[in-house]
Amino acid sequence: MINTAVFISGRGSNFLALLKNIEKGVLKNCHIAVVFSNNPNAKGLEYAEKAGIKTIVIPSKNRSDRIEYDREIINALAEYNIDLICLAGYMRIITEELVEAYKNRIINIHPALLPAFPGLHAQKQALDYGVKVTGCTVHFVDGGMDTGPVILQKTVPVYDNDTEDTLSARILEQEHIAYSEALSLYAAGRLKVSGRKVEVLDK
Ligand code: GRF
Repeated sequence: MINTAVFISGRGSNFLALLKNIEKGVLKNCHIAVVFSNNPNAKGLEYAEKAGIKTIVIPSKNRSDRIEYDREIINALAEYNIDLICLAGYMRIITEELVEAYKNRIINIHPALLPAFPGLHAQKQALDYGVKVTGCTVHFVDGGMDTGPVILQKTVPVYDNDTEDTLSARILEQEHIAYSEALSLYAAGRLKVSGRKVEVLDK
């Protein structure tokens, strides 16, 4: 059983999808010990509270010292024995401090096929570029912006009449599937990272 901390900043639909899949038994050997948010008004916090999951909120507004902020997170997580941090719509850049404290133990979901369209507004970037296919990526987090080793990706088509909203919704559906799949593999000890490559080991 792995103990996870899910980091959110807003809506929290990826967190909710993980939670539902754990409850349904689809996502096995995985426990969400705590939900962390940098935003006290994050909607996802309500889902956590309803499910009886502990929450930690450290407001990041006006916190310009990122290292000091991440040290506070590390201290706050200490009592939970966290194996893995799952960034799920966590909108703050994390520092080396946190990356090193949880080396190869932080994963993120991004709404594009990395390395295309990193950073903010990935769906709009894809639309503006005119790609015909986009999707989502679950990846390990290193010190860069959406640059760590890729665990898995899901694709979706881009249609001529897509808006940012319609495309985002199509991608989000796949995100909810992809994150649980990636976490299942991690929890089963089936991910082997060598440099940039993540090998999925046989059962
Ligand atoms: C998702 O599109 C995720 O890929 C991105 O931020 C969004 C968060 O959505 N990093 P939610 O808060 O999980 O609903």
